[in-house]
Amino acid sequence: MDLSAFPYLQGNYAPVEEERDFGDDELVIEGEVPRQLVGAYMRDGANTAYQPNHYVYPLDGDGMIHAVYFNQGKVRYRNRWVQTSHLLTERKYGRTIYGSVGKLLEVPQEVIDAGGEPSPIRNTANTNVLYHGGKLLAMWEGGFPHLLNNDLSTVGLYDYDGALQPGDALTAHPKICPDSGDLISCTQRWDSPDYFLQVFDKNGKHKQTTRVEFQRKGIIHDLQITENYVVIFYAPAFHSVEKAMKGEDPFEWQPELGTKIIAIPRDGVSEQLVFETDPFFSWHYCNGFEEGGKIVIDYIWISSIPFTQAQGTGVEKQPRRMYRMTLDPKTKQVTNEQFSDVFCEFSRVDERLMGKQYRYGFAASSNRDWGDAHGYNCTGRYDFETGETKLWEFGEEANAGEPAYVPNPDSDREEDGWVTNFVYNPGEGAFLSLLRAGDFDAGPVCKIRIPGRVPNGFHGNWCQDLVL
Ligand SMILES: [Fe+2]
Repeated sequence: MDLSAFPYLQGNYAPVEEERDFGDDELVIEGEVPRQLVGAYMRDGANTAYQPNHYVYPLDGDGMIHAVYFNQGKVRYRNRWVQTSHLLTERKYGRTIYGSVGKLLEVPQEVIDAGGEPSPIRNTANTNVLYHGGKLLAMWEGGFPHLLNNDLSTVGLYDYDGALQPGDALTAHPKICPDSGDLISCTQRWDSPDYFLQVFDKNGKHKQTTRVEFQRKGIIHDLQITENYVVIFYAPAFHSVEKAMKGEDPFEWQPELGTKIIAIPRDGVSEQLVFETDPFFSWHYCNGFEEGGKIVIDYIWISSIPFTQAQGTGVEKQPRRMYRMTLDPKTKQVTNEQFSDVFCEFSRVDERLMGKQYRYGFAASSNRDWGDAHGYNCTGRYDFETGETKLWEFGEEANAGEPAYVPNPDSDREEDGWVTNFVYNPGEGAFLSLLRAGDFDAGPVCKIRIPGRVPNGFHGNWCQDLVL
């Protein structure tokens, strides 16, 4: 593959070509694996199988899951592609057939006639992997999730027993309510501007749909829950399928429209609240909660949608920072303040405190003002109690991925869990790091070294009690 035209397929963004398995005897452990951990850390990411004709980071590229299974001090590593219908079709031909979300291609008639996947829009399944209701799902926000087995083999598209209809696109960023176990998610559709809040119970059974009406479909990537609301940002960021089919830049940023913030009552019946503010974009929330009748949202602020300037081959240049937003439902006033001057993205939290008062956020961070998305050489801890940002640097040229929180089964304290991520440090190689959430200064309590590379990816989660 000649990937030289694509900045986001260089270095540790380049795909790996093999599916591998490493047992305890092949992984080199530095430090000590916490014995009380039983489950798996899984992370999804883009791993293009064939040379693409066009590539938009972070939306394109075939989904691949990297998993580290923990069982009483023993660990195993495994990586597998998600066997989507688009990838299976391309495997049959041994080459790229489909285009990118930035440049869609008509599917050749002979491919369709031969039973290949007919949709020009590739469901990459590359964005997130989540274990909920006993189901392991690989997700991409433009379509259905893919159901996986614990060993990462692909079962196929999953429609929640018919709850999802053809054309429904489920978000890759649902949230789990720590009190009810409900999965709070949403669907959008390629043929409707509206947004549909979807709630599935702790067993994955559909229980509620709430419609939010929009004049125009926006790019809405994440959602945040609080005690009574689901909050979404409606930024002036749009994608046009028609333009993508014509080969024109399909992404639009219209700052004159400002950004709207919608608070959707979780009861599904109370009035939806709309707040208006200056234009900004965000991929990811950190957490949110309610205090004194106000809604507080912590999130990663970006000045505009990253790929409007040079989509396809351009490198993301927009600054991004942790912000705290306060919404007053009575006055509709929006207060939006920068929390830290550290460049960061991929924010996460102790999921037991999702939607509740909390102390620490964690994010992929940089201790240099590189101003692009290649520079996450640190894991950052954002202390909302003291205002302090603490960084652990893995190496000047390292790339440290999204930090997921692993709860300590023996403690409810945020400080007692671990913050885990895949790290690649040139000269040191690839490893899974575990930092003690309450003691960043001590560095990783454990590094699980993986032979070969684990490419930079997107989102992952701790899957409690999931074992091989
Ligand atoms: Fe995301």
